[in-house]
Amino acid sequence: MKTCIIGASGKLGRYLVGHALELGHEVVGVCRTQSCAKLADFAERIRIVPGATNDRAVIAEATADCDTVLCVLVPWSRQHYASGTAQAVLDLAPPDARLVFSCGWHISRDGLDVYPLGFRILIAIFGRLARLIRFVDIDDQVEACRRIFASDRRWTVVRGSDLEEGESEGLPVWSRHVGDPILASNRTRRTDFALFMVDAIGDESLVHEAPAIVSRCSPSARRHAPADGGS
Ligand SMILES: NC(=O)c1ccc[n+]([C@@H]2O[C@H](COP(=O)([O-])OP(=O)(O)OC[C@H]3O[C@@H](n4cnc5c(N)ncnc54)[C@H](OP(=O)(O)O)[C@@H]3O)[C@@H](O)[C@H]2O)c1
Repeated sequence: MKTCIIGASGKLGRYLVGHALELGHEVVGVCRTQSCAKLADFAERIRIVPGATNDRAVIAEATADCDTVLCVLVPWSRQHYASGTAQAVLDLAPPDARLVFSCGWHISRDGLDVYPLGFRILIAIFGRLARLIRFVDIDDQVEACRRIFASDRRWTVVRGSDLEEGESEGLPVWSRHVGDPILASNRTRRTDFALFMVDAIGDESLVHEAPAIVSRCSPSARRHAPADGGS
């Protein structure tokens, strides 16, 4: 299995690389030129394609012949970075490739998510502040996901809860809507977010789904998890 990891040098990206290598995948990583050193630990075992993730030539080269594309969608700056990245992957990855994208709970596929008041306030304040200082553009990550949801490619959009570092707690559980009781604890280990994305590659039931995930060890998951761990 040949897997392209877009945004490979970030915290989530490095976990994705590690998990994919453990499973024996051939890995191609895309990262900004100035960040390639962050992949030094893996340099002997992966091919690195340096460049911006919304550079279509970079994405075309990196995803060529790949069975799978794991894409970290980040809403950096005001240059349509997330939507440009998503569009390049949708347009240029091989036609049958399995596409798995990351984002946060704030993305809603069908508008049926029910967010806690504190979460809504945080997103509103952070989004406005970030737009003001032109640091992050959350609306562009929303646009990126809108395009993915409208696509007939074989996609999954994994929506992460609040993240923390630490040892794996196992494959997270998921549900279709934020607000479902199983998700109430709102925390997942970052390594397990990556585990879920890599595991999704082989899970056909997650094609055209936007699972919101939470640690299987969290109190809400322990209280409400179905036997199969899914929605
Ligand atoms: N942080 C959270 O609590 C949280 C919660 C839920 C979901 N998520 C989702 O998890 C995913 C990863 O988030 P993360 O917080 O863990 O971050 P992360 O893995 O550290 O990823 C940050 C990424 O952004 C890139 N980046 C940094 N500055 C940039 C810039 N100015 N221009 C372009 N790219 C830049 C980094 O590349 P370099 O290595 O080149 O810097 C890296 O690939 C995202 O999809 C996010 O929506 C995060």
